[in-house]
Amino acid sequence: MSLIEINNLKVHYPIRSGFFNRVTDSVKAVDGISFNIEKGQTYGLVGESGSGKSTTGKSVVGLEKVTSGSILYNGVDITSEKNRKKLNYNHDVQMIFQDSLSSLNPRKRIEDIIAEPLRNFEHLSKNEEKMRVLRLLDIVGLSVDALYQYPHQFSGGQRQRIGIARAVATNPKLIVADEPVSALDLSVQAQVLNFMKKIQREFGITYLFISHDLGVVRHMCNNIAIMNKGRLVEVGSRDDIYNHPLHIYTKRLLAAIPQIDVDHREEHREKRLQIEKIYQEQSSKYYDQNGLAYPLVKVSSMHSVALPPQEAKKYSEKEVEV
Ligand SMILES: Nc1ncnc2c1ncn2[C@@H]1O[C@H](COP(=O)(O)OP(=O)(O)OP(=O)(O)O)[C@@H](O)[C@H]1O
Ligand SMILES: [Mg+2]
Repeated sequence: MSLIEINNLKVHYPIRSGFFNRVTDSVKAVDGISFNIEKGQTYGLVGESGSGKSTTGKSVVGLEKVTSGSILYNGVDITSEKNRKKLNYNHDVQMIFQDSLSSLNPRKRIEDIIAEPLRNFEHLSKNEEKMRVLRLLDIVGLSVDALYQYPHQFSGGQRQRIGIARAVATNPKLIVADEPVSALDLSVQAQVLNFMKKIQREFGITYLFISHDLGVVRHMCNNIAIMNKGRLVEVGSRDDIYNHPLHIYTKRLLAAIPQIDVDHREEHREKRLQIEKIYQEQSSKYYDQNGLAYPLVKVSSMHSVALPPQEAKKYSEKEVEV
C-alpha cells in the first residue's frame, strides 16, 4: 500500500459576483488529479505559477477543503476531519511553507515557533521541551543564540531552516515541502536540499516536494508529476521525465532549467529557442477546446502522459496487442 494515494482530487474555489454576491463561477485550482507517494520516497510536484501545486499540498496536509475525490493515508481517507483526528494525522504530517517570512509569526521568538507543534501534540515538561528545541536547532545547524531571536533577524536560508526545524519537531512521517528553496541563492539551495536528504535518511521521512523548477527537483525526487492548470500532464520516474519526456509542456519546463555549465550555454540557448518555437506552433494540439490537458494515458509501467486522442490511441492499441 502506498503511504499517500490521491484519487481524482478536485479543489474548486467559488467566484462570487453581482449585487447578491452569488456564486457565478469557480476557479478550478485542482481539477481531477491522481498519484501515489511511496513510503520513504520523495515525490516531486512541478509546474508553473498558478498551476495548483500549493493547493494540492495544502489539501494533503488537511489545510484545504476538498471539493471531491479522496486522499488516502495508509488506506484511510483524510479529507474527513474526523479521520484526521482519529489518526493523529496533524502530528504525523507537516508542511514547510513556500514563504518563510510570512509563515513564521514575526512576534514570536524562535524557541516558541519551533516548540509550537510540540506544545500542540506532546505534553513535555519545560525542561524536556527545551532539550528538544535545542536538538532541533542543532540538527538544522543554528546556534543556541537563535532561541531568543525573532524571524526578521535571520537570512532567508536561516529562516527556511527554522521552518524545517518546526516541521520535523514531531518526527513526522510525511512532510509537504512547498518550494522550500525557491527564495534562496543557488549555493544556499544546495545546502538546504542536502540537509533535507540527510534528515530523510535519518528519520525515514517521506516528502511531497513542490517546485516550479525541474532543475531543483532533479536530485531530490524518485518520481515526478508535472502539473498544468489544475491537471497533470505527465507522471513518471525521474528517468522518464528527464530522459524521455513526451508532453510539450514537460519539454518546455526542461528547456527552462538554467544552464550552469558555461561551455554549453550557447547550445542550451539554441535548444530552448527551438522548443519554444515548437511549443508556440504545436501546443494547441496538446490541449482540448477549453485549453485543458487530456486524460493521462499509460505509455509504460510508471510513465503516463496527457496525450491528444489521436496519439493516445496508438498506446491503447499497443496495450491490446500485448
Ligand atoms: N483561496 C483562494 N481563493 C480563490 N482562488 C485561489 C485561492 N487560492 C488559490 N487560488 C487560485 O488557484 C490557482 C492555483 O493556486 P496555487 O497557489 O495552488 O498555485 P501554485 O501552483 O502553488 O502557484 P505558485 O507557483 O505561484 O505558488 C490560482 O489560479 C490561484 O489564483
Ligand atoms: Mg504555490
